[in-house]
Amino acid sequence: MQAHKLVTRNPRAELYYDLVELLTGVMLVGFLWTHMIFVATILLGIDVFDALSRALDDYYLSYTGIPIIILVFIMHVLTAGRRIPTRYQEQKVIWRHAKMLGGTDTWIWVFQVITGAAIFALASIHMWTVITGWPIRAVTSADRMHAFWWFYLVLLLLGEYHAGFGIYRQFVKWGWFPRKPLGYVTKMITAIILTLGLAALWVMYKLGGAV
Ligand code: HEM
Repeated sequence: MQAHKLVTRNPRAELYYDLVELLTGVMLVGFLWTHMIFVATILLGIDVFDALSRALDDYYLSYTGIPIIILVFIMHVLTAGRRIPTRYQEQKVIWRHAKMLGGTDTWIWVFQVITGAAIFALASIHMWTVITGWPIRAVTSADRMHAFWWFYLVLLLLGEYHAGFGIYRQFVKWGWFPRKPLGYVTKMITAIILTLGLAALWVMYKLGGAV
């Protein structure tokens, strides 16, 4: 808390932090939804998945995109992470207040913090395994998703919760869209991406067991 106060004494700095948090958050949601559609190409067959992955390499989109995503990921963790109560006393106070206030928005925020911290750990492991197991091919992905299906299931659920509510909260906060229609749209996209993700996980799991 002291460090937080020291760092953000200047309200202008607070605005810049908020803007970086917003921009990196929106970029990561865009990446996550696109990346899930890419993984879901396995539903069209191994050849389509591998052809897409080769094309991303041939046009240097993977070699330029991945370092940018990792940088954006780190900037988001640093800016959004400054709100995470690090001391147990603070966490206890916030949890007690959330129970007392009981408002949906309060609990959405509490779980946004919890899922954010969990994604930081899990997605770092995931990115490390994908990059060190280069290149991306259906057979190697299926192997990983068969052996560690539970890891991907947890990451999928946490990632889609964090992305869906994250973009909803940011757009409401900046007053860009009315709450109700925005709620419907983000829930609909999240449901579609979750369905694609679960279907892809199942196909990869089956494929991983067969190879
Ligand atoms: C450098 C960035 C990333 C790359 C290159 C990447 C690549 C991949 C690849 C190739 C797969 C297929 C399985 C595998 O090979 O392990 C996959 C699956 C997955 N990735 Fe990523 N990923 C990246 C970042 C992220 C991040 C930040 C998240 C955060 C939530 C994430 C969430 C997932 C999930 C949930 C799956 C499982 C998909 C499913 O259930 O169908 N990925 N990713």
